[in-house]
Parts: sequence; structure tokens; C-alpha cells
Amino acid sequence: MRMWAAVLVLGLAVSSCQAEFGPPTLNISLDDVPEERWATLTKVFDADFLQKAAAEVIDSTVPKWVHHAVKPVVMALEKYIPQPYAGEIRGLAAHFGGSLSDVIILNFAYEVSAFCTSVIAQDKKGNVYHGRNLEYPHPVLRNLTVNVVFLKNGTEAFRGTSFAGYIGLWTGQSPNKFTVSGDQRGSEHWWNWWKNVVSAFIFRRSPVSWLVRETLEKAENFQDAVMRLSKIPIITGVYYIVGGVQAGEGAVITRDRTGPADIWPLDPVNGEWYRVETNYDHWRPSPSRDHRREVANKALNATGQNNINMETLFKAMTSAVLIISQNNSLHHNYECSHPRQVQHICQATELQT
Ligand SMILES: *[C@@H]1O[C@H](CO)[C@@H](O)[C@H](O)[C@H]1NC(C)=O
Ligand SMILES: *[C@@H]1O[C@H](CO)[C@@H](O)[C@H](O)[C@H]1NC(C)=O
Ligand SMILES: *[C@@H]1O[C@H](CO)[C@@H](O)[C@H](O)[C@H]1NC(C)=O
Ligand SMILES: *[C@@H]1O[C@H](CO)[C@@H](O)[C@H](O)[C@H]1NC(C)=O
Ligand SMILES: *[C@@H]1O[C@H](CO)[C@@H](O)[C@H](O)[C@H]1NC(C)=O
Repeated sequence: MRMWAAVLVLGLAVSSCQAEFGPPTLNISLDDVPEERWATLTKVFDADFLQKAAAEVIDSTVPKWVHHAVKPVVMALEKYIPQPYAGEIRGLAAHFGGSLSDVIILNFAYEVSAFCTSVIAQDKKGNVYHGRNLEYPHPVLRNLTVNVVFLKNGTEAFRGTSFAGYIGLWTGQSPNKFTVSGDQRGSEHWWNWWKNVVSAFIFRRSPVSWLVRETLEKAENFQDAVMRLSKIPIITGVYYIVGGVQAGEGAVITRDRTGPADIWPLDPVNGEWYRVETNYDHWRPSPSRDHRREVANKALNATGQNNINMETLFKAMTSAVLIISQNNSLHHNYECSHPRQVQHICQATELQT
């Protein structure tokens, strides 16, 4: 109950997109040493709750015997994890009383679970909008959602929406520069994926959510962000959706581990004023059991470029999500951002009845 009250109160303060409930917001100062950065998480989440939630995510993602079997591997990997991530993970384990291997596992358990829809759209005036929703694979994640503002020298460097205990970002914004969201590509099993993690660290490839965070921190603008997200080697394939602040700045990057498989930019001059990416290559039909892409396309066509804005994008995406949530009874959650106008990501969580 305590948690919920916090969500409600803070939610009203952070959500400007729609009068809905939003998650809490947390400041993380990049000037603090990595081990101490996430200590403020205790201001927003109860350590007991976090431990239970983490255990639940791990139990539902990783078979018990795998969990036991990988512990030594995980501990051996620790020395390959680069800074600042290694320090942040160590700090999380120390502050929340989890075992170090479990915090590492948790960070990789989330990594395989981003089933979602991302949309970028441009209105007639040239404003670019970027929306994404997340279909939670573990119901408990919904209560762990947190907006994180990363500060440098006391001012915002970038921000993102994440889960308590997770140091990467799947969604974020560099204010007045660009926005990024990541959607999972393919459906690798955890154990196969784990082998990739091992080899990746040894070959110094980045988890996909770390590259998002690094790009948010370092890229100068939309072009630079697209370049980094396309080229830097990562652990597994993914879709990166990027929006900018100028007309025409929007693209879906389909990633292989080593580089781009495809870059699909907005093309508003030729009537292609939006792009929808779910979890399939855009040039292939999506599987017949998953209608999210078609539903979103239809809703956006019905909205039209003349009428697209934050609110209508929200509605178009909500209808897309509802289809899924009806069938799978997944909770959903929505964020939208418009870097030029709104300088923050706003997020609304719909209550499931
Ligand atoms: C999320 O939090 C609410 C309020 O505390 C609680 O009723 C609900 O059971 C929680 N959901 C999960 C999946 O933990
Ligand atoms: C940090 O902020 C202070 C006060 O806002 C400013 O005087 C100082 O130059 C800044 N330092 C850097 C490295 O940007
Ligand atoms: C977070 O940082 C911003 C920018 O420095 C500041 O305005 C705000 O008060 C901080 N919020 C909290 C809860 O510390
Ligand atoms: C979801 O359920 C509706 C109604 O029960 C059905 O028409 C639709 O085809 C289902 N969608 C998927 C993706 O299974
Ligand atoms: C949306 O409109 C485009 C352009 O007119 C069209 O090619 C596409 O088939 C439409 N999609 C849906 C699902 O209606």
C-alpha cells in the first residue's frame, strides 16, 4: 500500500501526457562514484520489496538449476564488466542486500524481455513524436518502473525509464537532441542468450541497453546517435528506434550483433510520415498470431498526419496495446516524448481491471 500511494502522488506530478498514473522519478548523479549512485533508490523503493521482486523476476525467467549452475560463471564474468556498470551493480548489491550474482543475473534477465511497440511520427509542421509501450513479461515489473534522471554537475544530462535494479536503458531522451527506444528482435532462449553474454563480454560487446545509455550520454545529436546505435557491436540483435528534433529526423535501426542490418528512416516527403516497429523485421510480414503492427498502422492511418500529436499518438498506441493485453492479460504502460517541446518523457500507466 505504501508503494502504491507513492506511485499515485509522484505520478500526478510527473505525468503531463495524459492525466494517468506515472512511476516515481529518481535523480542519479553521474558525479557520484558508481558504487554510491543508486543508493537514492531506497528513497523511492523499499529494500524488502526490491529483494522480493528481484527474486520473483529471476524465478520466472531462469530455471532453478540454471540459476545455480550459472552463479560461478556470473562471478567469473564480473571482472569483464566495464565501468561504470560494474561499480553500479556492486553498489546495488551492497545497498539492497542482494547477492552480486543475482544483481548481475537480474540485469540480464530484463535484457531478454522487451516486447513492445515503438512509433515515430511526424506532423505536418515537422514536429517529431516518439511513442513506445511496453508489454510487461513479469507483472511485478510494473511496480518496479521508475523514471531516472541522470545528472552531471547538477543539471540533467539525459533521462530514461527503467526498472529498479536495472542499470541499462531501453527508453530514453537526451533533452533537445534525440530520443531512443529499443525493441527486442527475435526470441532467443535465456540459456542460449547466456552463452552470448559470456562470449560477448570476452569480445567486449555491449548489452543492448548499455549502448542506449552510452548513446544518450555521449551522442551530440540525432545523426551521431544513429551512427553509434548502428555501428557499435552489441550482444544480440535488437531494433533501435530514434527520433530527433528536426523534421525528418526519425529512423528504425534493425541491428545484428556486429552492425546494422537495415536503417528505415521516416520519409515524410513521400507520405511515409510514421514508422511502427514491434518485434519483427519491418520488411517481412509479422506472424499471423501477432497483430500489433497492423493495428498500430491502421490506427495511425485513421488519425492522419494532420491530426497527429502527443495525445492522438497516445490513443493510437493505446488501442494497439489493448488488443494484446486483452488476450495476454499483460499490464501496459506508455511513455511518449517530444524532445523539442516537452523536454521530458512523460509516462502513463493504465490500470488493469
Ligand atoms: C503492485 O503494487 C500493488 C500496490 O501495492 C499491489 O496491489 C500489486 O499486487 C503489486 N503487483 C505486483 C505484481 O506485485
Ligand atoms: C558546474 O556548475 C557550476 C555552477 O552551476 C559551474 O560554476 C561550473 O562551471 C560547472 N562545472 C562544469 C565542469 O561544468
Ligand atoms: C533532481 O534534480 C533536479 C535538477 O538538478 C532538481 O531540480 C530536482 O529538485 C531534483 N529532484 C530531487 C527529488 O532531488
Ligand atoms: C485477441 O482476442 C480477440 C477477441 O477475443 C481476437 O479477435 C483476436 O484475434 C485475438 N488476437 C490475438 C493476437 O490473438
Ligand atoms: C496505411 O496507409 C498506407 C499509405 O496509404 C497504406 O500503404 C497502408 O496499407 C495502410 N495500412 C493499414 C493497416 O491500413
